[in-house]
Amino acid sequence: MGKLPPLSLYIHIPWCVQKCPYCDFNSHALKGDVPHEEYVGHLLADLDADAIYTCDREISTIFIGGGTPSLLSAAAMQHLLDGVRLRLPVNATAEITMEANPGTVEADRFRGYQQAGVNRISIGVQSFDAQKLRRLGRIHGPEEARRAAQLAAGLGLRSFNLDLMHGLPDQRLEHALDDLRQAVALRPPHLSWYQLTIEPNTLFGSHPPILPDDDALWDIYQQGNALLAAAGYRQYETSAYAQPGFECRHNLNYWRFGDYLGIGCGAHGKLTQADGVVLRTVKVRHPRGYMQGNYLDKRYGVEAADLPFEFFMNRFRLLEPTPRHEYADFTGLDESGVRDALDRALAGGYITESQTEWRITEKGKLFLNPLLELFMD
Ligand SMILES: C[S@@+](CC[C@H](N)C(=O)[O-])C[C@H]1O[C@@H](n2cnc3c(N)ncnc32)[C@H](O)[C@@H]1O
Ligand code: SF4
Repeated sequence: MGKLPPLSLYIHIPWCVQKCPYCDFNSHALKGDVPHEEYVGHLLADLDADAIYTCDREISTIFIGGGTPSLLSAAAMQHLLDGVRLRLPVNATAEITMEANPGTVEADRFRGYQQAGVNRISIGVQSFDAQKLRRLGRIHGPEEARRAAQLAAGLGLRSFNLDLMHGLPDQRLEHALDDLRQAVALRPPHLSWYQLTIEPNTLFGSHPPILPDDDALWDIYQQGNALLAAAGYRQYETSAYAQPGFECRHNLNYWRFGDYLGIGCGAHGKLTQADGVVLRTVKVRHPRGYMQGNYLDKRYGVEAADLPFEFFMNRFRLLEPTPRHEYADFTGLDESGVRDALDRALAGGYITESQTEWRITEKGKLFLNPLLELFMD
C-alpha cells in the first residue's frame, strides 16, 4: 500500500432533549442531566484503543455529531478536544464541526465551544414554519433558529451550516421555497437540504403522516435547486449545497472513501492499514452499555472483493468527477480489476471516462443501483 487516504475523526453524543418522530439516529431522550465529564472520559478511553491502529497519522477533520452535541458543557467540550489533541496529531487547519439544536443554543456556551477549537457549527433548523416545526416534534420555533444562525455568523467561525428538510407533512411547493428563501437570507456558507424520509423504527414509521406526492416532491426538488443555484449555492452531493470553497471537508472525506475513526455510542469507523487491509469498527450503541466501558461492538476487515463496490457507492454520491488515481490510492487495488465493470458502465452510458477521471452521467445518477451492481463481484 502506498499513500494512505486522509484520516478524519467522528465523535458521537447520544442524547437529545426529546426524540423527534422522524429520526432514526442513535439518539436517546435525556432523563436527568448529561453526564458531561464522565462521558468525555469514556470517549477518550475509547479513542485510546483506536489510536493504537493509526500509527500517528494526522487527523484532518473532526465532526461532533449526535444526538445533540450542543447539550455538552463548554468545559466538557474543551476537555474532549484537548484530550483528542493530546492523543493524536490534529492538523493546525483542521475543520472541527459540531452539530447544534437551536433549542439548546446559548451565546456564552457557543463562545466556549469556539475557544475549545470548534470552527464550524451545523444548526438543525429543519423549517422556518412554526406549525411544521411542531409537527416535526422540534423543541424550538423559527425565531430560535434564526437567533442560532445569527449567533454562529457573528462568532466569525470558518463556516456554518443550516440543516433544512423538505417534503414535510402537508407541505406545498411555496412553503418549501419559502423555507429556502429564509435560510438563504441568513447567508450560511453551507446548506444541507434533505428530503424527509420515513424510517421504519420511528414514530412516523408506525404512524405515517401524509406527505406530498411524487410530482409535488419533484417540483420542490427542481425549483428548490434552481433557487439555491441562483443564490450562489453549488450542489455537490444529493443533499449538500455550499458557496464555493465551503463544502464540508469532513463529509467530502467520507464520500471520497477516506478513513475515519468513530468514537462514542454506535459510531462507525474505517481505517486502512499499512498492509492495505481496511478495518471497520462499530461501537456499542446504547449509552448504558457504552458507559460501562465496553466500547467496541465489532472490528472486522473488509473483504478485498467488497472494496470496489464500497468505493464507487460513496464516490458516485458526489457530483464532482472521480480522479482515476484515487481508486488505487483509496482502495489499494489496481484499476485492471474493475476494467470489465467500467467498460460495461461506459457501454451502458452510466459514466464517461477520460485519461484522468470518471464522471457519472445523468443516466448514471438516475440509475445508480444498476450502475453500482456492476461493481459487486
Ligand atoms: C443528527 S441530526 C442534526 C442535529 C440535531 N440533532 C438537530 O436535529 O437539530 C442531522 C440532520 O439529519 C436530518 N434528518 C434527520 N432525520 C431525517 C429524516 N428522517 N429524513 C430526512 N432528514 C433527516 C435533519 O435535518 C437533521 O438536522
Ligand atoms: S434532535 Fe436531532 S438527533 Fe435528536 S431526535 Fe431530533 S433530529 Fe434526531
